[in-house]
Amino acid sequence: MRILGIETSCDETAAAVLEWSPSARPSGPAQSGGGAAGALRSNVVASQVDLHARYGGVVPELASRRHLERLGPVIDEALDRAGTEFEAVDAIAVTCGPGLVGALTVGVAAAKSFALALGRPLIGVNHVEGHIYANFLEHPDLALPAVVLIVSGAHTDLLLMRDHGVYEMLGRTRDDAAGEAFDKAARALGLGYPGGPAIQDAAGGGREDGVTLPLPFPDETTLDFSFSGLKTAVLRAAARPAPDGVERRRGSTAGIAAAFQDVVTRVLVDKTMRAARRRGARTIIVAGGVAANVLLRSRMTEAAGDLGVPLRIPPLALCTDNAAMIAVAGAYRLSRGERSSLRLGAYADLDITAPLPETQAGA
Ligand code: KG4
Ligand code: ZN
Repeated sequence: MRILGIETSCDETAAAVLEWSPSARPSGPAQSGGGAAGALRSNVVASQVDLHARYGGVVPELASRRHLERLGPVIDEALDRAGTEFEAVDAIAVTCGPGLVGALTVGVAAAKSFALALGRPLIGVNHVEGHIYANFLEHPDLALPAVVLIVSGAHTDLLLMRDHGVYEMLGRTRDDAAGEAFDKAARALGLGYPGGPAIQDAAGGGREDGVTLPLPFPDETTLDFSFSGLKTAVLRAAARPAPDGVERRRGSTAGIAAAFQDVVTRVLVDKTMRAARRRGARTIIVAGGVAANVLLRSRMTEAAGDLGVPLRIPPLALCTDNAAMIAVAGAYRLSRGERSSLRLGAYADLDITAPLPETQAGA
């Protein structure tokens, strides 16, 4: 089965072709897993980062317009690289939320017209579930239940994945997402956009000037997160008004960036491990754009090793938004017999623990 994946939820226009053999995927409860089932034939991402960088964040109207211009060529390129024809696509998987509604609409409308024109099944995919399934490309048989940390520009969710498509929310951010915190801190420090890579580069190896920032919301009674206070702490560490009214830098940019990364990753690791211990996780999954962070990856690896639970984090290219992860999540849903109708819409808010709208469960 050849699945075309489409992703336009935010600021990346993406298409991918996945070759999938349904018979090889685990059937029934996924505890014991199954064989390798998917091969990625192409994965094309056209980033809009340059377009939005000058505004310091994604401008929704510009994003939608750029998706409209780029999606056609991006799909053509994905098919080309996969060495396949449009007519040879067996199913279409598309992100239908959560995200920017105008941006999502471009991908969903395209996917529905292809499904209709080709007479092929359509499957909607929750973007957050897509991030999780980036891990199932290389590890189709990873053991469940898994504790999942989704850390992106829009989400910081701790989930229990009981089985394929079955999730329980354990904790989430009460305000800013972790990626958003990186972006705001980078802006406060006068670094570039997106903030995650900028902070990581600025931090380098060092905490040479000994800047310390408060641990954000370490509260042990909850698995929720809160990052909104950090921006103020970063601003305070960066500058203080002197008696002559001139702002002077206190900590160096490198020192503050390093301290910021230190406290954010520490709280993410602590709460993920606490959840994994409490819920008897057989795998720990970390996914989303912030999972590209080198310090987070190494700290998670160490902590999961101490706990003796296997850790899965996607390769860097599959951490940030892409369509390969959407095709993989779609493949699992299609294999269970799920189909979305042509009434599928674009949903700004979409709860991963609830059934997907306009989608029929399998037999
Ligand atoms: O998953 P993603 O590509 O888009 C959303 O679904 O939001 O995540 C984007 C977020 C941005 O906030 C970006 O700053 C962050 O991921 N990010 C990073 C790194 N690379 C991207 N954060 C920390 N360290 C990184 N290396
Ligand atoms: Zn994302």
